[in-house]
Amino acid sequence: MRKLATMLFAATLSLSLAVGARAGELIGVSMPTQSLQRWNQDGANMKSQLEAAGYRVDLQYAGDNDIPTQVNQLENMISSGCRVLVIAAIDGTSLTKVLATAKENGIKVIAYDRLIMNSDAVSYYATFDNFKVGTTQGGFIRDKLDLDNAKGPFNIELFTGDPGDNNVNFFFGGALSILKPHLDSGKLVVPSGQTSQAQASTVNWNTEESQKRMENLISAIGYGPNGTKLNAVLSSNDSVANGVTNALAAAGYRKGNFPVLTGQDCDKPSMKNILAGTQSMSVFKDTRTLARQVVKMVDAIIKGRTVEINDTKTYDNGTGIIPSFLCDPVICTIDNYKALLIDSGYYTEADLR
Ligand code: BGC
Repeated sequence: MRKLATMLFAATLSLSLAVGARAGELIGVSMPTQSLQRWNQDGANMKSQLEAAGYRVDLQYAGDNDIPTQVNQLENMISSGCRVLVIAAIDGTSLTKVLATAKENGIKVIAYDRLIMNSDAVSYYATFDNFKVGTTQGGFIRDKLDLDNAKGPFNIELFTGDPGDNNVNFFFGGALSILKPHLDSGKLVVPSGQTSQAQASTVNWNTEESQKRMENLISAIGYGPNGTKLNAVLSSNDSVANGVTNALAAAGYRKGNFPVLTGQDCDKPSMKNILAGTQSMSVFKDTRTLARQVVKMVDAIIKGRTVEINDTKTYDNGTGIIPSFLCDPVICTIDNYKALLIDSGYYTEADLR
């Protein structure tokens, strides 16, 4: 009996030690900017879910996409004793040095949403299937213009995101994998001739930048409801789509004659545009799901358990393949937004008014 009691005591003690050790662990969460809705949600979800799992959280936003600030904040996280760093990098190639220090200190690194390049300190990557985001956008344009059957030719302009964001290769590459055969056959035409990823890029995914570029295209090519026809604009995300929308609206486009326009994130301004009949679609990436998956990763790392991954092929960061977990992105249009966003509690109807 006494032996059993001793064993029970020992078991309870080691359990409470394990829980106690875990409870205090500090996790660093580094986000790129507060100027875009999604990263605020990502940060808030990560913090609340990590805290609910018993961790302490050092959550930092790197000003407005300021790379030196992000490096600085990561240095502080390392020196303040974070056990795991969860990082949504501003520029995938700028963190090699600071992450070498993390590795020397035995700190694990999870690349969040965007892959961190050229660093062997990155242990895991959690994101949405970025190529599928691109094929969803390209597929939407193909179907809306009925490229497989209609005669064409159709005019399109191409917009993607920041050149330092590795996701852009997948978003743009995925979309082009669908559109390229139609560009090659001449059914789809880019009147500006700006077809390369570099030409289509938008520094910092900035709305003003994409607006400026669309304004320039409008005046150079003469697009307008009564001018040169513009059938579609591929935009890799919502912040870029919003700039395109502003320029097109200023040129006189309205619901009814608006070009097919894609997006990603289901940001509130874009959802309002979708409801108003200007932007055509977005891609929903539920930030709650990504946060949940990353919290599971953190927890498994800290407890020395197997980390759940579902992709070991796609994401090479220059030092080898990074084991990844890809969440599923879902197309969002005026037809399914209620089920996707409202019924799931992501937004209220009032949010989108
Ligand atoms: C993210 C997108 C986001 C974009 C701009 C990308 O890396 O995957 O969801 O719209 O960055 O912040």
